Amino acid sequence: MFDLETFCLNCPFPTYSCKDVQYGKLLGEGGNANVYCVKMNNTKYAAKVYENVSDSDDLGHELEIAKCLKGSKYSVQVHGVGYIIHDDETTDILLLMEYLVSHGDLYDYIQNIAKWVPLYWINNQYVPSSTNNYIYNNGEDNIYWSYEMPELQKVKITRSMIKGVQELHSNRIIHGDIKTNNMVLQYKLKRQIVKLVDFGMAYSSETDDLIEIVYKCGTVGYRAPEQDDYTMCYRSDIYSLGITIIEVWNGDIWINKNDFKGCRKEALAGLRKIERNNKEFGKLLRDSISLNYKKRPTAVKFLTRFNTIFNNDRKCKKNLQA
Ligand SMILES: Nc1ncnc2c1ncn2[C@@H]1O[C@H](COP(=O)(O)OP(=O)(O)O)[C@@H](O)[C@H]1O
Ligand SMILES: [Mg+2]
Repeated sequence: MFDLETFCLNCPFPTYSCKDVQYGKLLGEGGNANVYCVKMNNTKYAAKVYENVSDSDDLGHELEIAKCLKGSKYSVQVHGVGYIIHDDETTDILLLMEYLVSHGDLYDYIQNIAKWVPLYWINNQYVPSSTNNYIYNNGEDNIYWSYEMPELQKVKITRSMIKGVQELHSNRIIHGDIKTNNMVLQYKLKRQIVKLVDFGMAYSSETDDLIEIVYKCGTVGYRAPEQDDYTMCYRSDIYSLGITIIEVWNGDIWINKNDFKGCRKEALAGLRKIERNNKEFGKLLRDSISLNYKKRPTAVKFLTRFNTIFNNDRKCKKNLQA
C-alpha cells in the first residue's frame, strides 16, 4: 500500500500537489512511465508520470540517485516531485525534471532527424552513389537507405556521450541502462549536448568490481554479459556505451534483436564497418565491448583515447589542406 504522507516526508525533493497541472505533449514513452511536458507555476517541466503507484521503493531509489546528481552537467536534473490523488483514491506520482528541448531521445534523433538518403541499386551500383558504407535495404524492393550523418556531428555527439558517462562515474553512480533511448540530444543556445536520462536502474557503488543486483537491469543488446548474471560494475556501462556509439555511427544496427548472442553479432557487424573507416577508433570500441569487463577501458581512459584519435585526425586533415 502506498503511503503518500510518508513518501513526501522522506522525499529528497520538494513535493507539490499537481491536481491542476496542465499536461502538454507526450515527450517519450519508456518501459515504466510516460514523460509529458507539463506547465506548473508558469514553468515548463518534463514530468515522468508513474500512474497508480502501489509502492514507493523503486521511486525512492530513483529519487535518491537524482539527489546525488544535483548540479551535474550531463545528467537530467530533477527539480521536484508532484502527486495527483484521484477520486478512486489511486495516486499518480510525477517526477518533475528539467525540460530538455530536443527531437525526442537519441534514437528518435538518429531515425528521424539525421540525414537518410534513398538509393537505388541499378546496374550493379548505387544511384546516386553513396559517400559511405552505412547502407541498409528495407527488405522489400531495391530501395536502399544511406545514413549520412556528417562525421563531425558523430564526433561531437560521441564526445558528449562519453563525457556524460565519465561525469556520472565520477559521481560514483552506475547508470545500468545506457542506450540511445536513455540519452537526449538537448538543443542549447547554439550548441547541442547529450544528457543522460532514466536513473531507474542506476546504482551507487563504492567498488570498481562487480556488485550483485536484485533486478536484471539494462536492455537486451546494450546490456553487458555480466548483467545477465545479476551482477554489474562501472564497466558494464562502458559495454553499453560502446554498443550505443556503434549504433550512432551506423544509424541502425538492430536487425533481429532478441538475445545476447544475436544482438552481439549484429553490433559486431556494425563495428566492422567503423573499423574499415577508422582502425584506431574501431579498436577503442572493440576494447569497450570486451566480454571480460576487466579489459574494458574506464570512462576517463575512453575519453582520453577518443580525444587523441579525433584531435589528431583533425590535425591530420588540417595538415592535408595546408
Ligand atoms: N527531461 C526530459 N526531457 C525531454 N524528454 C525526456 C526527458 N526525460 C525523458 N524523456 C523522454 O521520455 C522517454 C522515457 O523516459 P525514461 O525516463 O527513459 O522512462 P522509462 O523509465 O519508462 O524508460 C525517454 O526515452 C525520452 O525520450
Ligand atoms: Mg528509459
